[in-house]
Amino acid sequence: MAKALYPGSFDPVTYGHIDVIRRASALFDSLTVAVLNNGAKSPLFSVDERVNMLQGVCSDIPNVKVDSFSGLTADYVTSNGFDVIIRGLRAVTDFEYELQMAQTNRKLAPKADTVFLTTSLEYAYLSSTTVKEVAYFGGDISKFVPREIEDLIFEKYKK
Ligand code: PNS
Repeated sequence: MAKALYPGSFDPVTYGHIDVIRRASALFDSLTVAVLNNGAKSPLFSVDERVNMLQGVCSDIPNVKVDSFSGLTADYVTSNGFDVIIRGLRAVTDFEYELQMAQTNRKLAPKADTVFLTTSLEYAYLSSTTVKEVAYFGGDISKFVPREIEDLIFEKYKK
């Protein structure tokens, strides 16, 4: 019974994340998508908002749960008995940071391995940061996020 964790900021969730979630959920018995509560960053969406958004887009995938956590990913992995940490790799530019993070997590939580899923090519360019920038300037983000997320992003920028 392999339990996988997909940790991230998800500020906001994009089609790239959803692609990774769907593919990882097909590979493992259960998948928890967990939003990091990171006091050092100023996110567009609160942790609760991001959890709600993820719950909405994952509602049709039976083995996916959504949670949030604070502190080290490795501690959350150990205290919840995850076997695998999932991360998406878009391009070679992601690799150095992801490799360092995977190796650090393996030292801190030796029972868990990181499994990288290469993002589907159609989403290889996509990031939450790009989505926010395009939305900020009033651009079309309909190819980047589902309709309900699009509405929530534009609501934020209207305020
Ligand atoms: O979606 P992101 O921002 O690429 O996700 C990064 C995340 C949340 C997975 C990473 O920053 C993380 O695990 N932070 C928790 C703190 C931690 O464990 N740091 C040590 C890893 S090197």
